[in-house]
Amino acid sequence: MEEKRPEWSSHISFIIATVGSAVGLGNIWRFPYIMGKNGGAIFLFTYLLLIAFICIIPLCCELGLGKIYKKDAINTFKTINPKYKWLGWLCIITVTLIPCFYFVVGGWILNYIWVFITGQLPDNFSLYFSSFSAQAFMPCFLTILFLIMTAIFPFRGINDGIEKANNLMMPLFAVMLFILAIFALTLPGAKEGLAFMFHPDFSRFDKTMVLTALGQALFTLSIGMGTILTYGSYMKENTKIVKSAYTLIICDTTIAILAGIMIFPIVFSFGVEPSAGAALAFISMPQMFSQFPLGVIFGLIFFALLFFASITSGISMMETTVAAFIDNFKLSRKKSTLLATVIIGLISIPASLSFGILSNFKIFDKTIFDLLDYSTSNIFLPFNTLLICLIAGWCIPNFWKKVFGESFFGGVFNILLKFIVPFVLICVLISGIY
Ligand code: TRP
Repeated sequence: MEEKRPEWSSHISFIIATVGSAVGLGNIWRFPYIMGKNGGAIFLFTYLLLIAFICIIPLCCELGLGKIYKKDAINTFKTINPKYKWLGWLCIITVTLIPCFYFVVGGWILNYIWVFITGQLPDNFSLYFSSFSAQAFMPCFLTILFLIMTAIFPFRGINDGIEKANNLMMPLFAVMLFILAIFALTLPGAKEGLAFMFHPDFSRFDKTMVLTALGQALFTLSIGMGTILTYGSYMKENTKIVKSAYTLIICDTTIAILAGIMIFPIVFSFGVEPSAGAALAFISMPQMFSQFPLGVIFGLIFFALLFFASITSGISMMETTVAAFIDNFKLSRKKSTLLATVIIGLISIPASLSFGILSNFKIFDKTIFDLLDYSTSNIFLPFNTLLICLIAGWCIPNFWKKVFGESFFGGVFNILLKFIVPFVLICVLISGIY
């Protein structure tokens, strides 16, 4: 059954939804610890330069492709040239694999929300986290619960589901982030935390740091998977692409920096290593929240924050897959959502079990969870982005004029699109493979 292609009801809804997609665990959880591991301020400055001058290009490409062709990822590339259809499929495969590990983390978040609501905090979060995530039943159950909570919104459609969810959750998210950041600034470690974030240590500048910053920038903008393309395809005719892209980048970066402002003062006040890694959110942070009287409330806000960030991103991942199923299998929206839910559910269970009974099952020396995370972020993502830029730059006549405009800046962006960005992406890709 053909359904009429939906459209965002306003420009602001479009921006909120794309920000909802971009702002996720990548901002709140991944960005601070990667920054911690890579020297703080020097990483932040590199990241800002890269995001403003390099990542803007593929972001505009995806938005432009969505706006021009008004199709899902697969049909967009098929329309450009039937030979490129597989690139659309590759985007869809990537964006279907990401939730398979992302939603496992979503399940953990649900569990921590419960722990903080009931107030039954364990003494040692490190032991608690390793024993919880290794269980067979509960983490799988919560992963599926998170999946179902996410799927409800694409199931209900763009205007009634996705738009409403984002318009409600993103403002709540912003308010909570502000509250926590202000609270963090009142702590004794605030000065040290801010110095760590904004005082550059130039000795940490090296190739690996630059590549890590770029990988993070691509991941956080949800580029390379047809998601921004799909959201762009519901855009109104008069929406300006470059302006929307910069708005998105500014919002996403501001939120990542605010997340850092929230996390580092807490980290320094309690004497935790800022480079503690993935454990920061699920071990160090809750441990610190459990140590002061109002901590339970702040802990609850922290995990609610992670919940809103991850579910709005999750919705955009599922919508990309659902839109592709609708257009290519000629299924209704509801049936497409069910199909996507079943596929993601089936793969996410072994991903969840890879912290417990499947922890010794390794492919390329990685557990299923790590393999999904590593291959999508470090290989598929730069690879797809590279091809999207090459196709947009070299195979669509005058694409740059339509997207960037014919001004001087349009010309500069065209050079970036054709030569510089592909070169940089090839470097990222090579470093990701080795
Ligand atoms: N941008 C999201 C985040 O920061 C993660 C993400 C990566 C994503 N790729 C995506 C979200 C594709 C939606 C679609 O957490």
